[in-house]
Amino acid sequence: MKTTVPGPTYQEMLHPELLPAAIRGAALAGAATELDPINLFNITWRGADNQVRHVVLPKELTGVRANIVVMVGRHFPSGSHKVGPAYTTLMEGELAGEISPGVHTIIGPSTGNFGIGVAYVSKLKGYPAVVIMPEGMSRERYERIRQYGGQLDLTPGSESDVILVLERTEDYKKDPKNKILAQFELLPNYRFHRYVTGRSAIDAARGHGNGRVAGFVSAPGSAGTLAAGDEVKAQYPEAVVCALEPKECSTLFNDGRGTHRIEGIGDKMVTLIHNVLTTDYVMLVHDDDCVIGLELVERRAALVEQVLGMPQGSLAVFAGMFGVSGICNVLGAVRLARHLNLGFEDNVVTIATDGFDRYPSVLADLEKRRGPVDASSFEEVFRGGTPDEILDVRGKDEKQRLFHYKEQVWSAFHYSHAYLESMQSQGFWDGEFEKIEVIDRALISARK
Ligand SMILES: Cc1ncc(COP(=O)(O)O)c(C=O)c1O
Repeated sequence: MKTTVPGPTYQEMLHPELLPAAIRGAALAGAATELDPINLFNITWRGADNQVRHVVLPKELTGVRANIVVMVGRHFPSGSHKVGPAYTTLMEGELAGEISPGVHTIIGPSTGNFGIGVAYVSKLKGYPAVVIMPEGMSRERYERIRQYGGQLDLTPGSESDVILVLERTEDYKKDPKNKILAQFELLPNYRFHRYVTGRSAIDAARGHGNGRVAGFVSAPGSAGTLAAGDEVKAQYPEAVVCALEPKECSTLFNDGRGTHRIEGIGDKMVTLIHNVLTTDYVMLVHDDDCVIGLELVERRAALVEQVLGMPQGSLAVFAGMFGVSGICNVLGAVRLARHLNLGFEDNVVTIATDGFDRYPSVLADLEKRRGPVDASSFEEVFRGGTPDEILDVRGKDEKQRLFHYKEQVWSAFHYSHAYLESMQSQGFWDGEFEKIEVIDRALISARK
C-alpha cells in the first residue's frame, strides 16, 4: 500500500536530522506555511539545530536545588505535542489498510489539543474530521479546530466529563465510514510518547546537572505523555515517575471525581493506555494554583521578578511558553524535587504541552473571578504543596487499586478481562513498544 500524503517514521520524529536533506530542508522552510503537508515532517521535539527544545527554570523561581527541565511543546505543528499521537494513530491505521482518504472520516474524541491535532493532521492528509469534545473548554480551542476545517460535536460539561465524549464516540463507531483516533485506548499514543517524547526527555537532560533524569513529571489526560516515563526508567531504573492530578478531581489519588480548571488533564479515569506499573507517585495540584501561576508567569512577570529580586526582564524568555497544564507540570516537578530532597546534580524533566495562545480567555475569566493577583500569590503558588498531597503508589496494593479502576472503566467499553489482565505485565508494554521497528520499516516501504 502506498501512503497518500507521506509523513515521518517514529525514528525520524525522534531524529529529524536523519531525514533526507531535501525533506528536512523543505520541512524547515515550510514551517511558516502551516497547512503545507510537508509540516508532518516537523512533528518532533527538535528545532532547526536538531536540539530538543527545552528550558531550565531559574532556581530563584523554583526555589529548589534540582534542575527543573521543561520540554517546550508549542512549536509542534498545530501548537502542541498532541499532534504526535494524532499523526501516529492515523499513520498506523493507514499502514494497516484500515483508513483511506476518500473513504473514511476521522473522528477525534478529545478535550482540545488532541482534537486540534486530529483536525490538523486530517486536513494535511486529505480527510474530513469530526472532533468530539466537551462544550466548556477554552474558546481558542474551538476556533483552532474550525480553522483547520474540523467539524465540532460538543458534549455537555468540561474537562472532567470526558466519559460523555467516549459515550458519544460509541455512536460514531456504528458507521464503518468513521475511523476513531481513540487517544485513551490506542497504543500509537503510547508508542509516540515512550519513544519520541521519552528519548527526547533523556536528551534534554544531557548537559544539565549529572546529565541523568531523576524524575519525570506529567499530568495525564490520556496518559500518553506519561509513557515517556517508561523510556526514562528503561534508561535510568532509579528514576521516579510522578503523575499529577487536579486536587478537585483526584481519581488516581483516591477515586475522587469533580470539575476543575486544568484543561487537558484529570479526565476522571485510568485510561486504557496508562501503564500504571511505572507510575511511582500521584500528586495533587490545586487547579487555581495553575491558573494563577500562568497569570504570574505570563502577565505579571515584572511583579515576580521584583518579589524574587531578579533583574527586570529575566523571565521574559518564558512569555508565551506555558498553558495551564504546563504550569501544573512545573509546580508538580518543583514539589517532587522538594519532596525527594533532590540535589544540584539532579534533573527533573517535565512538559509544557502547549503555549499561552489558547488561554487568554482563561486569564480573562480569572480576573473576573478574583480580581488582579498580587505578590502574596507567588508564595502560595510557587512555594505551596504539602506532603499529604503526594501518594506513593509503588506498592502492590496501590497497583491493584489502579488496575481495578482501569478495569471498571474499560470493561464497560467492551474490553475483555483477559486483555485488561495482560496489561498488568510490563511485557505487554514492552511488546507494544517493540512494534515500532516493524511499523517504521513498513512506512518507509509504503513511501517509495
Ligand atoms: C493542555 C494539555 N495538557 C496536558 C495534556 C495531557 O497529555 P496526555 O493526553 O498525553 O496525558 C493534554 C492532553 O490533551 C493537554 O491538552
